[in-house]
Amino acid sequence: MNTPVHTTQEPPPEIADAFGAAAERLGIFARHLTWFPEVTSTSDVAAALAERGAPEGSVVAANAQSAGRGRHGRQWVSPADTGVYLSAVLRPPPHAVRLLTIAAGLGVVEGIRAASGLTALIKWPNDVYVSGQKLAGILAEAGSSASGIQHVVLGIGINVAPGSYPEELAGRATSLEAELGRPVDRGLLIVECLAALDRRYGELQRGEPAAVLDAWRERAGATFGRSVQWEADGTRLRGTAENIDDSGALLVRTPHGVERIISGQVTWL
Ligand code: BTN
Repeated sequence: MNTPVHTTQEPPPEIADAFGAAAERLGIFARHLTWFPEVTSTSDVAAALAERGAPEGSVVAANAQSAGRGRHGRQWVSPADTGVYLSAVLRPPPHAVRLLTIAAGLGVVEGIRAASGLTALIKWPNDVYVSGQKLAGILAEAGSSASGIQHVVLGIGINVAPGSYPEELAGRATSLEAELGRPVDRGLLIVECLAALDRRYGELQRGEPAAVLDAWRERAGATFGRSVQWEADGTRLRGTAENIDDSGALLVRTPHGVERIISGQVTWL
């Protein structure tokens, strides 16, 4: 974890007004927003707050990140004014942990749809795609003690304007504004994602995973039918992604039968 920078400010009006207007729909995310004009990584700050006992639903958001992180140790380039960079602290009960990343991807896709009208698709486990290009990503990081998982920080990055991702990703990444051809309100985007996340996380907490799994499968157009490659015990394997099982594992059809992939890096071909 990088050493977090702490220079919080009042959120700008576009963010504060959106939170105020949506307060009743934000559930656990309604009460604790920390805003930074620029920060190393919202996930580093959220993890530090969680370690110090921050309540579930605490949200850290920023206009820019100087050390944004993606999955598999990658950098998440996070220039000012162009993207959504936010992290939320969750304290899931054990039965809700397994499908948390699945619920998070679903919540972000639903939030994007509610805020902008754009239908994005999920690539397992929780990358968000539109027109075959990456629009948003989620980094879930758990903090544990001897008694189990104490918190999970969900870090969400959404490309809002074309400048939000590096030029070398052109063709592989896209932004909401490029897709829609019009400006998108970042405040609305943040609150709609949090409202959707609250709904889906609530279903997991209440022991209703089927609602999350069914809705995820309906949005899985960037996953099912795609060829995928991965390594197991030093062997490279290939197959076609067919489904996810009820624990959120990816089910891949291979010449030798259906393989179940729990985590790790898969390459989409
Ligand atoms: C991915 O690799 O697809 C996940 C990207 C997650 C980026 C977000 S931006 C907010 C939060 N802070 C970070 O440093 N990373 C996550």
